[in-house]
Amino acid sequence: MENIRNFSIIAHIDHGKSTLADRFLELTGTVPKEKMRPQYLDMMDLEREKGITIKMQPVRMKYQDFILNLIDTPGHVDFSYEVSRSLAAVEGAILLVDVTKGIQAQTIANLELAKGQKLVIIPVLNKIDSAQARIEETREELAKLLNISKEEVFTISAKHGTNVEKLLEAVIKKIPCPVGDSDKPLRALIFDSKYDAYKGVVAYVRIIDGKIESGEKIYLIRADLEGEAKEIGFFNPELSPQKEMVAGEIGYIATGIKETGKVRVGDTITKLKIINVEPLPGYQEPKPMVFASFYPENPDQFDLLKDALTKLKLNDPSLTFEPEMKESLGRGFRCGFLGTLHAEIISERLRREYGLNLVISVPQVLYKITNQKNQEISVYSSSDWPSPQEIKEKREPWAKLEVLTPQNYLGQILELLQEFKARKIETKYFSRELFILIYEVPLRQILTGFYDRLKGISQGFASMNYQILDWRPADLEKLEILIAGKKEEAFSRIVSKNEAEKEGRTVVKKLKQFLPPQLFSVPLQAVISGKIIARETLRARGKDVIAPLYGGDYTRKRKLLEKQKKGKKELKEKGKVNIPSRVFLEIFKNK
Ligand code: GTP
Repeated sequence: MENIRNFSIIAHIDHGKSTLADRFLELTGTVPKEKMRPQYLDMMDLEREKGITIKMQPVRMKYQDFILNLIDTPGHVDFSYEVSRSLAAVEGAILLVDVTKGIQAQTIANLELAKGQKLVIIPVLNKIDSAQARIEETREELAKLLNISKEEVFTISAKHGTNVEKLLEAVIKKIPCPVGDSDKPLRALIFDSKYDAYKGVVAYVRIIDGKIESGEKIYLIRADLEGEAKEIGFFNPELSPQKEMVAGEIGYIATGIKETGKVRVGDTITKLKIINVEPLPGYQEPKPMVFASFYPENPDQFDLLKDALTKLKLNDPSLTFEPEMKESLGRGFRCGFLGTLHAEIISERLRREYGLNLVISVPQVLYKITNQKNQEISVYSSSDWPSPQEIKEKREPWAKLEVLTPQNYLGQILELLQEFKARKIETKYFSRELFILIYEVPLRQILTGFYDRLKGISQGFASMNYQILDWRPADLEKLEILIAGKKEEAFSRIVSKNEAEKEGRTVVKKLKQFLPPQLFSVPLQAVISGKIIARETLRARGKDVIAPLYGGDYTRKRKLLEKQKKGKKELKEKGKVNIPSRVFLEIFKNK
C-alpha cells in the first residue's frame, strides 16, 4: 500500500485537466504512442465533439515502483457531483489553474470540495507556454487562495509537457499513501457504475479494507443485494481483468447484478456471509435543480425509455426520473437535472446510445404554490400549473450567485446583474485584478441565458457558481402555446408577469422559424389566462400539383387543383400538425 497514490485533477472548465492526464498517460507508458489521441480520457464521442468532460474517468498508471490511480473529473458546474464522488475515492488532488484565465468560480468551488474531504492539494499553474500567460499575477492569486507561499505553486505546460514529470514526482512525494487494512473484512466504496449486458452492473470501487478475488460471492449492504464478482480489475483505462484487488486500490467489480435500479453509488460492497460490517458513509444525494418532461416520440418506446433512463442513472446518479402521463403527450418521465447543460447532455445520450427520439418540455425550476385550501403544491412541470382561481400564493427558488470577474468587465457585469433582477449581497475584492460579486437572484433567471451572456460580455473570463437559497413569493403566470388552435403542453412555460408578452412573442417567432411548412396555413399563438398575447402564421407550403402537366388541358389542371384544395381542407379539419422532435430541441436550446 505504501506504493499506491490515489489522486484527482480538479479545475475550472477548460483549464487543461484532460490534457495533463494525456501527458501522464504518455509519461507512464500507460497508453502506447500509436494509440494516443488528445484528451484520451474523454471516452464518449459526445465529450470529444463538445470538447468538455462529462464523466469522471479513472485510470491506473505505473511509474517507477509506484501505482498511480488518477481520476480525471469534469469542470462544468452541472457535473460537480462527479467531482465530489471522485474526491471521496482519493487522498490528494492537483488543483489546476489556467494562467491565461486565472482563478475562476469552479476553481474555488472544487477546492472547497477537496478541502471538505481533507485532501492534500497540489497547486499548479497550467498553459505557461501561452502568449497570454499571466504567470506571476496568477501565482500570487493562487498562493493567496490557498494561504501558502508562492514558491509552493507548480508551473507547467500540459500541452508541451513542460515540468510534468516534476509534477508527477511531487504527487508521489506529497500525496499520502492510502490507509486501510487488507486483513479486515472487505469494504469497497462504489463511486461510479455502468451497465454491461453480459457482466451486469459494473461497479467502480475504491477498496477501503480487505481484499477481493475474482469469482467470489459479494453483498451490497445498503441495497441488500447479493451478487458475484464475475470479473474484477483495473482501469487501463479500458477494463483490464485481474485475479485480486486489495485495500487502497481503485478498480472495478462486475457484479452480475441485472437489477439496475437497485445499485446506488455510495453503497458498500462486502463479501457474502460476512456479518457485522459497518457500511461506509456514502454520499449525499444531489438535489435536482431543473426539471423537464421526456416523452418518446413513438409511444411504443415507453419501456425502452424507462430502461434507458435506469441504465443512464447508473452512470449518472445525479439524474432523477419519475413516470408521468399527459393527455396530449401520452406516457413519459419527469426528469430532474443539475442544470440545463446536464438536461441537454442526457437527452443527447438517450438519442445516441439508445436510439430514442424524444419530445422534451421546456426545462424549468421547481415552483411551490399554495392553493385556496392552504395546501402546498410542488409544480415540476408547467402542465401541472393550477388555474389562476385556485392559486393563493406562488413561490419560486432563489439562488446565491457568485460571479468571479477580472476588473475590466466589472461595469458590464453589474449592468447584466441588474437586467437579470439580481440583488447585491456583497462585492469582494480578491486581488489586484479579481473581484467576487455575491448576489441573490431567482434561479429561473440563471437558467435562462445568464451564463451565456456572462461568458459573452467577459470574453470567457468571468465565471459563476450558484446554490439554492430558498423559495420566495413571485408574480408568475403560465404561458400557453397553441398550434393550429391546439394547446401544445410541451411548449408551455412559467414566466414572470411583466416578461410574459416578450416571451410569448419570442416563442411563436421561433416556432415559425423551426416548424416545417405544412399543407395549410397554421396559426401559432401565445396565450395567457385565455388571452392571446402574440400570434404568427406559418404559411402553407404550396405543392405544385399541376407542374407535370405543362401544356396539358385546362380541365385536368383544374381538377387537380380542386383535389388539392379538398385535401388541404380535410387536413385542416383534422388540424394535425406534426411537430418533429428536432423542433422541441431547437426551442429548448434557444431558450
Ligand atoms: P473540461 O474537462 O471540459 O473542463 O476541460 P479540461 O480541463 O479537461 O481541459 P482540456 O484538457 O480539454 O483543455 C482545454 C483546452 O486547453 C484545449 O484546447 C487544450 O488543447 C488547451 N490546453 C491544455 N493545456 C494547455 C497548455 O499547457 N497550453 C496551451 N497553450 N493550451 C493548453
